[in-house]
Amino acid sequence: MSDGSDADGIRQSAVPAPRGAELPLTTSAVPGGPQDGDITDGLEETYWSVYDGAASKATVGQILARLPRIVRQIGRLAWAADRTATLAVVVLQLASAAMTAFGLMASVAVLRELFAEGPTPDRVRAAIPQLLVVVGFLAGRALLETGVAIAQARVTPKIRTVLEAEFLALTAHVRLEVVDDADWHDEAYRANDRGLFYARQIVGQVVSLAAALLGLVGTASVLGVLHPALLPLLLLSVLPVGAAAVRTARARFHSFKRWNTLQRRVRVFSWLLLERDAAAELRSDTAQCALLEEHRRLTTRIAEEDTRLGVSSAGLNLAGRAVGGIGTGITYTALGAMLIAGWLPLAAGAGAVLAIQAAQTSLTRLVDVSHLVYEQAMWVDDLLAFQERCRTLQPRRSGLPAPETVKTITLEDVSFTYPGKDTPALNGISMTLHAGQTIAFVGINGSGKSTCARLLAGLYEPQGGGTVRWDGVNVLDMDAESLQARVGCVLQDPVRFPFSALANLTISRGTLTKANPQRALDAARASGAEQVIAGLPGRWEALLSKRFRGGQELSAGQWAKIAVARGLYKNAPVLLLDEPTASMDPRAEHAVYEAVLRDKPRPDQITVLISHRLASVVACDRIFVFDGGRITESGTHQELMDLGGDYAAMFTLQADGYRAEVGEAA
Ligand SMILES: Nc1ncnc2c1ncn2[C@@H]1O[C@H](COP(=O)(O)OP(=O)(O)OP(=O)(O)O)[C@@H](O)[C@H]1O
Ligand SMILES: [Mg+2]
Repeated sequence: MSDGSDADGIRQSAVPAPRGAELPLTTSAVPGGPQDGDITDGLEETYWSVYDGAASKATVGQILARLPRIVRQIGRLAWAADRTATLAVVVLQLASAAMTAFGLMASVAVLRELFAEGPTPDRVRAAIPQLLVVVGFLAGRALLETGVAIAQARVTPKIRTVLEAEFLALTAHVRLEVVDDADWHDEAYRANDRGLFYARQIVGQVVSLAAALLGLVGTASVLGVLHPALLPLLLLSVLPVGAAAVRTARARFHSFKRWNTLQRRVRVFSWLLLERDAAAELRSDTAQCALLEEHRRLTTRIAEEDTRLGVSSAGLNLAGRAVGGIGTGITYTALGAMLIAGWLPLAAGAGAVLAIQAAQTSLTRLVDVSHLVYEQAMWVDDLLAFQERCRTLQPRRSGLPAPETVKTITLEDVSFTYPGKDTPALNGISMTLHAGQTIAFVGINGSGKSTCARLLAGLYEPQGGGTVRWDGVNVLDMDAESLQARVGCVLQDPVRFPFSALANLTISRGTLTKANPQRALDAARASGAEQVIAGLPGRWEALLSKRFRGGQELSAGQWAKIAVARGLYKNAPVLLLDEPTASMDPRAEHAVYEAVLRDKPRPDQITVLISHRLASVVACDRIFVFDGGRITESGTHQELMDLGGDYAAMFTLQADGYRAEVGEAA
């Protein structure tokens, strides 16, 4: 064979070597996860952290200016979720604020009676009716606040449900290449983890904000009635606390960006340590300690981040309260001066102390809650902006529906590059596939076979001018989902759906509840899944997941048969089989090829088979050899063998392996 010919006279070329095989390695240290600097740098480059950073630099003024928009936004969400409950929250909250103000006025009236001239018992008796009014207002407020809490409890979970359903519907439909984008994943993770969580929290915070604001307006107006000069003094005592709260919020937000990235890495490690899928290999590799060490390194960093934030927040709070305390001192000194100067009667002075305390409580609460709302609104904004972005990443929903049948599929100069990659995975692919044909894609790992299959399935779109046509019609003019519905796919790593055996088939037609029994039986028979399912307790109803009580686990080859059955059950005009039999035993593999490729060649169906076992593609009508994203050879088996190129070399290599065994045995 060294002269390049074998006994049959077929010229042999060398088996193609993997591309870029030269890979120098000079260090013995394995790079671990990114270090501190790497994490921050990575985050700063992303579009989202530019947006986050801008929002976190907001001043008190900007926060106050943004609050109305946030309240409107949350109001809209609440209104959409439950109108009656939202209306109840607003009305009851207003009524409760009115009760607070009236209660305060009644308290001032009580004080006036108590500070009036005359014997003490008479003054107390005179104050009793006013006192009862105060009690009445307080009781009324308590009832109204309970009503607010009940209405809020009705609307809050609904907001989350509505938002979560919308979020999942949008993310589950975005185009497949978007899902390959790591940045999109970061955003999705953040929106799911934080955005949805805070969307639920923020309603309560907005209600508290409104309560604090209304309480403040009520008490401030009581103070204004007592003496207008008391109002500026009030602000003096509370604004410094607010400034400190805003600074704490900003520090927490910046810290959270680092925390989130670390947390995501930690989850990767906890998943590997916990999941069943990784358990066997982890033990066989004795890799637990290495993973635990990395987990510990990351969680220590998270703990440090938490402590750093807690300490700096405490410092900021203390500074704010110290300045606020000085302000309060000045307020009371000024009040004393006003009493001495005779600007206020004593009863009004005592009422003012009550009102100042109530207003201070409301204002401190307002500042506290507004910084919380502001911070939480960033995440809700994040979620809403992400949803908006997902809306622009949806597949085409307009255009013609894909035809029920197809005679010819033509690919013209099709290229495709994965997001974040420099080199194209497909580079100028052209081919024509005819109904009734069985086509094979072969080639070395990473040569573009699966990518091309996904393009044929309408899961990816060509980039840079190439076209895919179905009977002459550009697929870009067709509704994307209807196109996907016309292609049955058995992908390289089929999903092991944790559903019943039957639902594992019916899902290829987009349903978990409706089955066509005859079609299911045919598909199970042709794929070899019939014996697998017959052997399960519960048969078609057997739950294929150990995660559920009574669930069954299948072997890799058994799962492969279920996946092939799923592809066949779809009964689509195009059937793609991406290494469907790699994990099947030889008899099962043979049976699948007999059933799918030889027994029932359907004149209306185009079958595309990707396989590394070249013996299985011999009978295909046309074989395309992929290398580096291009098609380097194409033809029937015999034509390619006669050509003596890469295919012939790979085929002979595999055939020789079998021949040597047979020879030795003989
Ligand atoms: N989801 C993805 N994101 C980024 N790059 C990808 C992705 N999938 C594949 N690639 C890259 O695209 C190229 C072609 O991959 P593809 O999966 O099409 O190869 P293949 O011929 O099917 O290989 P194999 O025989 O190993 O299945 C490879 O360089 C691979 O690294
Ligand atoms: Mg592949």
